[in-house]
Amino acid sequence: MRSSKELMEYAAVIPVLAIEDAKDAIPLAQALVDGGLNVLEITLRTEVALDVIRLIRENGVGAVVGAGTVLNPNQADQVIDAGVEFIVTPGLSQKLLSHIQETGMPVLPGVSTASEIMQGLEAGLDCFKFFPAEVSGGIPALQSFLGPFSNVNFCPTGGIKEANLAKYLNLSNVLTVGGTWLVPSGLEGAEKWDEITRLAKSTCAIAHANN
Ligand code: 3PG
Repeated sequence: MRSSKELMEYAAVIPVLAIEDAKDAIPLAQALVDGGLNVLEITLRTEVALDVIRLIRENGVGAVVGAGTVLNPNQADQVIDAGVEFIVTPGLSQKLLSHIQETGMPVLPGVSTASEIMQGLEAGLDCFKFFPAEVSGGIPALQSFLGPFSNVNFCPTGGIKEANLAKYLNLSNVLTVGGTWLVPSGLEGAEKWDEITRLAKSTCAIAHANN
């Protein structure tokens, strides 16, 4: 199993997915993988999220599947049971973090302040989601973290799009970024998988040129 840092290095960017209809799971995952995005975060924001995780894991589309929006130990156990390879949490809860760490599952907890980063460091981590990135100070905040936390790595999410992607990826403490912009709901609803692959490819081109 890849560590959090290895996952962030492996991913060009991480699509953050909230799939409403399980029938979309395989074609959507396949469209993203075909476009070069092979680390996917399935958020627990929809009722079918656990089914979606199982479907993508069992159908061998070649994606590394993680769960996002994991808010408590019970949800962590459910996504591990469904076969995830990493867990993302929107914030840092010591109780949830200890629970996930006891399972050995790679975890990216969300942080947005120096105090939260220090709590994560105390728990032995050096990789975090920076969330919500744009409203928590964006690029200047990440540059400021480089002073006291020069060895800490981030995956910013929240407000990242194709237009600001390169600026984030150019920061030395940003290994990858995540976001929902890669799957516009209109395209998913209309099953425009080729367009999603095209968007993934153009994102990968930017990522490879700037990381
Ligand atoms: C997340 O959970 O990472 C965010 O909701 C993604 O934010 P975005 O919708 O602005 O990409």
